[in-house]
Amino acid sequence: MSKDSLTVTDNRTGKTYELPIENGTIRALELRKIKTGDDDFGLMTYDPAFTNTASCKSRITFIDGDKGILNYRGYPIEQLAERSNYLETAYLILHGELPSRAEYDKWVFNVTHHTIVHENVKELMVGFRYDAHPMGMLMSTVAALSTFYPEARHVRDAENRRDQIFRLIAKIPTLAAFAYRHSVGLPYAYPDNDLSYCANFLQMMFRVGEKYRVNAVFERALEVLFILHADHEQNCSTSAMRNVGSSEVDPYSSLAAGIAALYGPLHGGANEQVLRMLQEIGSKDNVPGFIREVKTSGGEVRLMGFGHRVYKNYDPRAKIIKQMADQVFAVTGKSPLLEIALELERIALEDEYFIKRKLYPNVDFYSGLIYQAMGFPLDMFPVLFAIPRTSGWLAQWEEMLEDKDQKIARPRQVYLGLGRRDYLPLERRG
Ligand code: CMC
Repeated sequence: MSKDSLTVTDNRTGKTYELPIENGTIRALELRKIKTGDDDFGLMTYDPAFTNTASCKSRITFIDGDKGILNYRGYPIEQLAERSNYLETAYLILHGELPSRAEYDKWVFNVTHHTIVHENVKELMVGFRYDAHPMGMLMSTVAALSTFYPEARHVRDAENRRDQIFRLIAKIPTLAAFAYRHSVGLPYAYPDNDLSYCANFLQMMFRVGEKYRVNAVFERALEVLFILHADHEQNCSTSAMRNVGSSEVDPYSSLAAGIAALYGPLHGGANEQVLRMLQEIGSKDNVPGFIREVKTSGGEVRLMGFGHRVYKNYDPRAKIIKQMADQVFAVTGKSPLLEIALELERIALEDEYFIKRKLYPNVDFYSGLIYQAMGFPLDMFPVLFAIPRTSGWLAQWEEMLEDKDQKIARPRQVYLGLGRRDYLPLERRG
């Protein structure tokens, strides 16, 4: 009997099975062999929300949730945040290695020269109401891009995939900024290819007239925030991207699904919700009362920006963001909401309710305060998450397509509904 195996006895039949263990997992399909008889379908696992199911093998991002470790392709997030920039990190995530100087220059050139979107996309945006949420606009316009690049459906062609990857990483900030400008009624600002990825995004957002000087502290803060948000292994939106992509639809359609998943308040929408929560709490004095409400609401009122499916320790990204907030506030002045956030964190980290459940600040707890200080409206926060996550989604999508173990995603269910019954005409129903 191999040591790397699990021996299971089915008490219904008394039969024993040996299931191979590989990388700390057993293959769910091995369980199918466990049957009570020939007409038995075989055993399955029941795992709603995939809390203990590995859906893929990946070489992109490593997280140790108990220790609060996050690495991209082996590089600690702290080192990347300190020394890299977003486009270099995106290259690393997508290619597996840091680029050489020549590779980096070519990569930056390619991304930079795909930033412009077709003029008809602008026309499309005009159709949105003045108060449309920019995340909804981003999701729709990314999906619409699939109609501008119909060749993108050839997802098995690696060269073709490269082109779509350049396009998506390049155009997402343009679409995001256009969505913002639509909502405030400003004319769209076109990309400036002489600027860095983040500086260009800032000017597309905030330039009014010809004069706009990008603040270097803001530019660097955005680089760091984008690095921190670039990938996070098999979260809800990445799983959506992989699942939809497994049907071999084009990457624009898959990425729109990723954006849709990220939009939710329990995922990338949380940073916006944190700010709304802080505004609602209103002052430091109201913090104990709010914490009491969270604890007694039976899970209905949540301390937004706290807790994580994987991290049962301080989210390493939150640590970096908290430190960086000081640099941004040195330029903008301190946000009055910071005091409330710090008090919430202080009380929560000492409170039995949060300690017992291992609830710590996550990436969204402080990011919103920085975004707000930099002048981004609340509605833009989830969009600011989607821009950098695009590189992670695309890397995960490509990895899925190249993985021989993968095929179209199609979970099983446990059917608990009624058995077969006959149709009754309307007049005979009670
Ligand atoms: N405030 C109060 N209680 C909480 C919170 C919170 N933020 N998060 C979890 N709990 C409680 C929950 O009520 C439950 O308590 P009990 O055992 O008494 O029923 C327990 O902790 C476990 O919670 P869960 O919902 O089973 O945990 P989960 O792993 O399914 O959920 C989460 C993870 C992130 C959805 C959740 O912690 C949450 O809703 N947090 C607030 C939203 C948020 O900040 N989301 C951003 C996540 S990080 C960025 C990203 O990945 O998008």
